[in-house]
Amino acid sequence: LAQRFSHSAAAPARPSFAIAFDIDGVIIRGRSPIEGSPEAIRRLYSEDGTLKIPFLFLTNGGGVPEHRRALELSKLLGVDISPAQVMHGHSPYRELVNRFENDLIVAVGKGEPALVMSEYGFRKVLSMDEYSSYFRDIDPLAPFKTWTVGQTDNNSSAKVHPLYDVYAERVKGVFVVSDPVDWGRDLQVLCDILSTGGLPGSGKGDQPPLYFAADDLEYQAAFPSERLGMGAFRIALESIYNKINDHPLKYTSYGKPNPFVFKNAASILEKLVMSMYPNSQASNEVNDHQFSTIYMVGDNPKVDINGALKAGRPWSSILTRTGVFRGKDNDPVFPADVLKDLVLFTDHSVPHGP
Ligand code: G3P
Ligand code: MG
Repeated sequence: LAQRFSHSAAAPARPSFAIAFDIDGVIIRGRSPIEGSPEAIRRLYSEDGTLKIPFLFLTNGGGVPEHRRALELSKLLGVDISPAQVMHGHSPYRELVNRFENDLIVAVGKGEPALVMSEYGFRKVLSMDEYSSYFRDIDPLAPFKTWTVGQTDNNSSAKVHPLYDVYAERVKGVFVVSDPVDWGRDLQVLCDILSTGGLPGSGKGDQPPLYFAADDLEYQAAFPSERLGMGAFRIALESIYNKINDHPLKYTSYGKPNPFVFKNAASILEKLVMSMYPNSQASNEVNDHQFSTIYMVGDNPKVDINGALKAGRPWSSILTRTGVFRGKDNDPVFPADVLKDLVLFTDHSVPHGP
């Protein structure tokens, strides 16, 4: 795509297309870049390091603030990525701040979930690590857990006196920010919070709202076959909750393939291109400064390609064989517009290009 654009780089018009890259299984596996991904991303920048093609990372992953992820990706890929170019599964949580004003909420998952939520503006946040540490014997299996969790969350180290009166104050919202680490404990404590109206150890009560940043059943990671993701955790929690309560679990899941995520991504890309080309006119093919095409480059047909299909125009999809999808032929249920071995490619088979 960048190669096609470079033929017209001297033209004042802004590019008529933009790109959204999935991260896990397209750009990175585990902690390492996938073959060709740093080069593919670097092609979107001019030689002087300025951004040439509007793009962002649209991932269902997360667990750290967007600015931190932007720094990590910048180092890994050797380019300057801004926080605005990172959309995590949990990024839309920031829109829910007003709904929880001074309410106590619990943030679940790997990384620094409480820090993420505090930076979004939530005032009373405890990570699941910290919250559960205040309830003696809440996890009967804790004495058998010989490992020490690599906690880095500022809010997660257990303090002798809780910051909030967790024994009297009900949890008013639960946010699964990233993939849970200790599934056993988290399933137990979430069932406690959700079944008791937010006060573990008390009687039954109304379920507080529950949010999941994404619903990926599986994702690629570093192991040769897929790993269970947040969607698998959701199924486990829902099945157990529904067995021990006489009403079904209520929850909201964010992340791809929800069309609203693609809508948000399109508007961020639009702002990005306006800041890159403030004086340019939209090309003749596009109306009202809209892109003629936005490419979703993903590895998971059910999530990335399905999302682009649901979102409709101007979204178009490119499916790589570097992650969840490894097939020779296109996915029969969620067929991509284009199939590629790697995110790095140079041929001209991409439809609707600039
Ligand atoms: O935990 C991350 C995973 O569920 C998906 O990440 O980048 O493939 O959307 P990504
Ligand atoms: Mg992926």
